[in-house]
Amino acid sequence: FTIHTQTVSESCPSNIALIKYWGKYADQIPANPSISYTLNHCKTNTSMEFTANEPFSVQTFLAGNEEVKFAEKIEKYFRNIEQYLPWILKGKYIIRTENTFPHSSGIASSASGFGAIAKCLMALDALFTGKTSEEESLRKASFLARLGSGSACRSLYNGLVVWGETDEVEGSSDLFGVQYPDAEIHEVFKNFNDWVLLIHEGQKSVSSTVGHGLMKTNPYAERRFQEARENFIPMKDILKKGDMESFIKLVEHEALTLHAMMMMSDPAFILMKTGTLEVINKIWDFRRETGLPLFFTLDAGANVHLLFPNNGTEEQIKAFIEAELLQHTQKNGVVKDVMKF
Ligand code: PMV
Repeated sequence: FTIHTQTVSESCPSNIALIKYWGKYADQIPANPSISYTLNHCKTNTSMEFTANEPFSVQTFLAGNEEVKFAEKIEKYFRNIEQYLPWILKGKYIIRTENTFPHSSGIASSASGFGAIAKCLMALDALFTGKTSEEESLRKASFLARLGSGSACRSLYNGLVVWGETDEVEGSSDLFGVQYPDAEIHEVFKNFNDWVLLIHEGQKSVSSTVGHGLMKTNPYAERRFQEARENFIPMKDILKKGDMESFIKLVEHEALTLHAMMMMSDPAFILMKTGTLEVINKIWDFRRETGLPLFFTLDAGANVHLLFPNNGTEEQIKAFIEAELLQHTQKNGVVKDVMKF
């Protein structure tokens, strides 16, 4: 190394899956393909200070506070990816990271977090080994992010992103995310709102690592993996045609199936809260009464992602959310994002 200390800074957004990834094989290979929207405004900003020729160590700060547990996780992750970045263990790191969305809001901070770290590593790699193309570098960042947190590999690209091999999407891979072809997406899906109602802020009772693991013994797992694969066929058609009604049905089904899998695990667990169910029922009542395209998806947690297009109906939908749904949130309220691409 000719350069002693280098600092790089990168930013990466979170994402929300529409067809869910739940269940994996060794080396972070997903049991089925998934597709997500990248959230434009929920981001992690990370700076990485690397000092070469020092014993390997990692120190991490989250919003200015030292996080020892997180540092241990990153240390383990770096050891795990040494085969792909041979210089990675040859120095010490100080990593400073902050999220633009509330901490522990249940918005996937592991996706944006590992995405940002992988981008920092590729920025350092470019300094040490010479630049590769932007495209190559992003792909490798996605590959590395996947090894930190599976869903993180989808955060490296904007818009709709697919991870997991499927005949329905050219170039798709189990190893990294790929952008869904722009020409195959109807305009109505290119400008969407995702408002996250923060129903429950506390620590999740079951981590997603444990949740994925429980799919190994879930008697419905194979059928579920098959269903997710099959869901890419209608999804392709829906995205092309702008078929909002079928989109809503498919996306809500995926969310409920994810949580149904949790209930059918052994041991069973439930991450939804009373507020989650109340909000879902209110959304369904609203849709029945008005026919307006407000719908939901869920991550592995209690919070509800409210999805609705910007197609002229959004003001009426926003008014309903403000009047009827905000009462179910805890003090943090709602995180508003517009997904545009
Ligand atoms: O990337 P992980 O291991 O945190 O798993 C995330 C799984 C879900 O968020 C529930 C679904 C998905 O596809 O993002």
